[in-house]
Amino acid sequence: MPRIVFHPDSRTAEVPRGERLLTAAWKAGVGIKSVCGGRGKCGSCLVEVDAAATAADALTPLSDAERALLPADAQGHDYRLACLCDVRGDVAIAVPPESQAVRSAPRKPYTVTRVAARPIVARVTVEMEAARMAAPSSLAERVCRGVARAAQVRKPDLPVAVMAEYSLRSGFDAAREATATLFRDRHVIQLRPGRRHGLYGVAIDVGTTSVVVFLCDLARGDIVAMRTAGNPQAIYGEDVISRMTHVQKDPAALATMRRMLVDELNRLIAETAAEGGVDPDDIVDAVAVGNPTMQHILLGLNPEPLGRGPYLPVWSDGVEVEARELGLAIVPHARVFIFPMVSGYIGGDTLAALLTRDAEFYRGNQLLVDVGTNGEVVLARDGELTATSCATGPVYEGAHIRCGVRAAPGAIERVWVEPGGRIRWSAIRAADGGGDPRPVGLCGSGVISSVAAFVAAGLLGPDGALAPPDRHPQVRAGDSGRADEVLLVAPPFSRTGRDIVLTQKDVRNVQLGKSALRAGIEILLAECGVQRLDRILLAGTFGNHLEPDDILRIGLVPPIPVERVRSIGNAAGDGARMALFNRSHRRRVATLARRLRVLELSGRADFQELFVTHTALAPEPDVALAA
Ligand code: FES
Repeated sequence: MPRIVFHPDSRTAEVPRGERLLTAAWKAGVGIKSVCGGRGKCGSCLVEVDAAATAADALTPLSDAERALLPADAQGHDYRLACLCDVRGDVAIAVPPESQAVRSAPRKPYTVTRVAARPIVARVTVEMEAARMAAPSSLAERVCRGVARAAQVRKPDLPVAVMAEYSLRSGFDAAREATATLFRDRHVIQLRPGRRHGLYGVAIDVGTTSVVVFLCDLARGDIVAMRTAGNPQAIYGEDVISRMTHVQKDPAALATMRRMLVDELNRLIAETAAEGGVDPDDIVDAVAVGNPTMQHILLGLNPEPLGRGPYLPVWSDGVEVEARELGLAIVPHARVFIFPMVSGYIGGDTLAALLTRDAEFYRGNQLLVDVGTNGEVVLARDGELTATSCATGPVYEGAHIRCGVRAAPGAIERVWVEPGGRIRWSAIRAADGGGDPRPVGLCGSGVISSVAAFVAAGLLGPDGALAPPDRHPQVRAGDSGRADEVLLVAPPFSRTGRDIVLTQKDVRNVQLGKSALRAGIEILLAECGVQRLDRILLAGTFGNHLEPDDILRIGLVPPIPVERVRSIGNAAGDGARMALFNRSHRRRVATLARRLRVLELSGRADFQELFVTHTALAPEPDVALAA
């Protein structure tokens, strides 16, 4: 089988001859951007072949379609598009930073750190009666009596599958003590000879782009370890629509996507357990949240109806599924709680974010905004909850941006223009402060920051057009002579050895994402009769990194005093952990799901009108129109 080496991490994979290079990369654990879902339309899966280490015919020949998508300045580089070539022999590939799949780790991964612990699972020590010929009763009957005494429940539920597993433990029928793990006080989900004390659970946040796993100590109510990674389903496209489309075309893709996700979750669980010194046999509970598409895929439900009218989920209630059914590598009979879903686009992640809000959120008019590849917005108007969602596109994740990269060390996250006109930037540094300080590209917040800075400096008009090249030495013209891009970093100072620029097309993509979100917000406010907001809360990985000044300057959200805009961190992960730590939150989330009214935007004529109005990069559309 051909062997592929992917640099810079030198990961390797052996794949069948004829395997698509993009698929081979994900098999090797290398995430390559695939904005169009591997359909050969976007050019984002650009890689470079190491010709010195690769035979000439190791990849299928370049087609016209592939050539047309390669960068114009490809001279001297052996570029290929990973979704348009197949592997035929041993090959060495370099994945440039701008082609690495977005795997944005939340840099403020949680804000809720401790929750009053009242877990839905408990461990009790069972005193076992000795087997007696005079009063014969089965081991299971004696276990049940022991559990009833220890947990003070009348009728414990002891499934045969749990006994079957117990009966394979050495000394199982001679043990005088056993540890029973109970779910909801009476369901035995695990039985072990002897005493065990650890009580751990995992909270899982499945995003379209990245996944986060928190390993938690349920007895103490705190976090033991956390890991994040890219969602490997990105091979099927960076947004939920692409993933639905794949399932629509090939129903077998659902099982593959589910398997990929579960494998990645298991890898993260194993890593957190190793870091925390926790035996996976002590991980007895789990909670998972995600948008409806992610939750459908995790449950093995066909997500395709979510993407077409009337946009309804196949399943909407919160559900408890045995870990072994999901394939999750924790205690097999542990019940994984998956949050309810409200509509095709409002799912467990939105409800989890709401779960983190206290009484303050229900006073006055408050807006909760979660921007990702999809934008979800919840308005609380004097306690009444209404939600809507709009497709903002992957621009906020750094995709569809020429020099867009994941939010990792080397990514430019802030841009500003000094009074003298000098363009400055700051990039994310490695946690230890080391590594190459040169930047590799712009992450989502860097894109918004640069657009806001250029608007403020007059390098971008409110209509999104770049100022003429004679306005600033770093504004450069394209072939037409019109301004085409702004140079942020020249090759000697970039890690890639190439220009880092913000292009006119990037700005247009920002405008599309921005106007979709803003149009959705405006309709929501109008429908609910709200003219003035008291507070705007930004949730999600991207919301974490945005500067309130920037988003107000480009009109991403309605005008409001800047001090009234606040980030609330990775609220979905926080909500998942709350439901893991404390059983009362599972009831609360069911209530929230019933209370939340959903406003569907598709097919609304006013959406299109507002969409056009709000493409302006200004706090208020009329400001832009007057300019
Ligand atoms: S061209 Fe879009 S993923 Fe390859």
